[in-house]
Amino acid sequence: MTYRDRVLHLEQAPLAEIAARAGTPAYVYSSAGIEQNFRAYDAAFGSAPHSICYSVKANGNLSILRLLARAGSGFDIVSGGELYRVMKAGGDPARVVFSGVGKTAAEIDQALEAGIFVFNAESEPELALIDALAQRRGRKARVALRINPDVDAATHAYISTGRLAHKFGVDIGEAEAVYLRARELKNLSFEGVSCHIGSQLLDSAPLLSALDRLMLLIDRLRAHGFEIRHADLGGGVGIAYKPEDAAPDIAGFVKQVRERAAVRGLHILIEPGRSIAGNAGVLLTRVLYRKKTGDKEFVVVDAAMNDLIRPALYGAYHHILPVRQTEAPPLRADVVGPVCETGDFLARDREIPQVLPGDVLAILSAGAYGFAQSSNYNSRPRAAEILVEGSQWRIIRRRESYEDLIRGEE
Ligand code: LLP
Repeated sequence: MTYRDRVLHLEQAPLAEIAARAGTPAYVYSSAGIEQNFRAYDAAFGSAPHSICYSVKANGNLSILRLLARAGSGFDIVSGGELYRVMKAGGDPARVVFSGVGKTAAEIDQALEAGIFVFNAESEPELALIDALAQRRGRKARVALRINPDVDAATHAYISTGRLAHKFGVDIGEAEAVYLRARELKNLSFEGVSCHIGSQLLDSAPLLSALDRLMLLIDRLRAHGFEIRHADLGGGVGIAYKPEDAAPDIAGFVKQVRERAAVRGLHILIEPGRSIAGNAGVLLTRVLYRKKTGDKEFVVVDAAMNDLIRPALYGAYHHILPVRQTEAPPLRADVVGPVCETGDFLARDREIPQVLPGDVLAILSAGAYGFAQSSNYNSRPRAAEILVEGSQWRIIRRRESYEDLIRGEE
């Protein structure tokens, strides 16, 4: 993203023109950015056996999935709906991993029918259900047990998943016994071991320590005769949300993973979402009003917590840039949306560039968990989504209409 002639461009596309023609709020993604981030993982693994399974939950737009499928990505899904999206986008079901703590029988059956690569199973009852459904279809289901390694991921409490107090996975202390008992389930084939300790990980140490625990478990399982082929690390590294922050070094992290995998001849699977889509997308929003209450200054914009819930839900920081550069001195304000909640803010007490009603702002780092977590709260139609390719851009999801809002209602 660069300013050219004082206008912010994503690749070679001027964001001011996109806002004017497509309207706001609008999510705008860079196809080159997404592809480059995918390639960073792929290149870091190099010749080491690996699969990159993009985590659909981060941004499941069909055009984004198609772009990644063409780049050679597999997919990490957590619902039947995500599997449906992957298949609609031309993704290969044989490169899909199905994660999640509450898969329904219908979803498991859908995945068996599609022929996905592997189920990351999270409990013994789930293993039993997968076994029963596989038997009904007369086939074997490939499974990996998701291990809860009991390590602290050092990230936001809501997206930290690797302690025993969290609902995810099977207690690492019990895992060996669970694999041994599950040997009785004749319609399962135990391909691997998986874990996911959390998202927005800025320090790779907890992830590597989880991986070390996984490796010891894999050694024990192999000693019992299990042919464990892969280790799945879960999501990718975190991203820099502030301009002054450095993004975690993907190559350095992957190198450490490669070393651990090589000595055991393991295939590594990784499910990055945020680090592929996050910094490749922005949310464009237009300033509606400026107002003051007491000492506080507010910039009221046309995007709200229904469009981007991360600030309201996690207190997340998203950097804000004006689409047109200005010389005027900055102001300190809360950037807030039209939704009727005090929690509806995009930035709080933030120094932002001088803006007037009608100006367009770019909310950065919004490509992952942005649109994907948007809703129709306050009966607000969901934003348009746009994909940039060089100087070209196209709408990849049209803005919702009022008709869309009431679809399915009586
Ligand atoms: N694999 C599994 C099993 C996951 O649960 C997740 C994310 C990922 C992979 C992808 O992780 P990533 O590479 O994106 O860190 N809504 C939150 C993030 C929730 C992440 C949930 N799981 C946010 O906006 O920060």
